[in-house]
Amino acid sequence: MTDKITTDTITRSRLTRRTLLAGAGGLGAAGLVSGFPRPAIAQGAPYKVGLMLPYTGTFAKLGQFIDNGMRLYVEQKGGKLGGRAISFVTVDDESKPENATDNVNRLIAREKVDAVVGTVHSGVAMAMVKVARDTNTMLIIPNAGANDATGPLCAPNVFRTSFSNWQPNFPMGKVMYDAGHRNVVTITWRYAAGAEQMGGFKEGFAKAGGKVVEELTLPFPEVEFQALITRIAQLKPDAVHAFFAGGGAVKFVKDYAAAGLGKTIPLYGAGFLTDGTIPAQGEAANGIRTTLHYADNLDNPANKAFLAAFKQKFSADGDIYAVQGYDSGALLDIGLGAVGGDAAARDKMVAAMAAAKIDSPRGPLSFSKAHNPIQNIYLREVRNGRNEMVSIAQANVEDPARGCRLPA
Ligand code: BEZ
Repeated sequence: MTDKITTDTITRSRLTRRTLLAGAGGLGAAGLVSGFPRPAIAQGAPYKVGLMLPYTGTFAKLGQFIDNGMRLYVEQKGGKLGGRAISFVTVDDESKPENATDNVNRLIAREKVDAVVGTVHSGVAMAMVKVARDTNTMLIIPNAGANDATGPLCAPNVFRTSFSNWQPNFPMGKVMYDAGHRNVVTITWRYAAGAEQMGGFKEGFAKAGGKVVEELTLPFPEVEFQALITRIAQLKPDAVHAFFAGGGAVKFVKDYAAAGLGKTIPLYGAGFLTDGTIPAQGEAANGIRTTLHYADNLDNPANKAFLAAFKQKFSADGDIYAVQGYDSGALLDIGLGAVGGDAAARDKMVAAMAAAKIDSPRGPLSFSKAHNPIQNIYLREVRNGRNEMVSIAQANVEDPARGCRLPA
């Protein structure tokens, strides 16, 4: 751990929350939100990116893979985006919303980053969006699906390279109805993303004609699933739809299989249930069907090249989180490229990012007027230790962006 921040290209500096707090010398969050000087944008200086991600806790692997994906993209571009050298500073947000405002304020005020890329957890992301709006800092969200970030709180300087929580779940409603399921139980964590992911599913399932008979929840990030699994066994629904991710998803899938329910009550979910988790879930994941904007075996050149490069650099299989980090690099590349690296030309940079068409490992990626991805949602099934594509559940899915007032 170090308090020293180096701005060399692709230099890794990890700031713990404690380090940031010590360095900030007790400045209150409110005082940091406005009124401090913007970073000096000298053409020769690296463009400084603050990576605010979970590096510990249940979402630690997700954060690390986003970080890896973004660094891979920058490295492939010779350490530059849009011709401008890139430096990184990182902060572990621990997926704790209560620390989020302080963490992002200190990246902006003390570290004087030019852009923030983060995060995974919807509650943390909402605090980041508010600060980004107040300080007009460029923010790219590489995972968190909080619907409001590209809904009522949409802003010119806020982009998302991942999904809205509604997006991968709405298409699953029709998928499960078409598979013959009429009465479904949902299960998730009790926090913003859990409620919104299940909301998207319920909307799609009700539209198709199905009924959610019970909505089971437990506090984030708890993993004591036994009582809820017993309840599912009592209710005997046609199927279950779940949202969990990271360490929680590993435990839930294993517990569900261990209870013997996998054979009688099919388990479905948003793709986070099995993305980046299959090695730890083992046999228990076999046959689980999920919907997501990625599948491991997507047969396109961008995906093949990405997976090969990721494996070579990190000795691990890339997943959706790595793809989202990689595409965050691609989006920033397009923005900085349009202004010759001069990030002070903000309007031009934003216009280029909004019009971006990225040949992503996930397939074609473009952006809605709310700056949320327009992308295919794939139906996948776990086979041979991979999330293999079954079909395109819905092509070119665009979040409704309810409440967003940005012009088209
Ligand atoms: C969220 O909090 O938005 C989230 C976390 C993990 C995976 C997907 C969404």
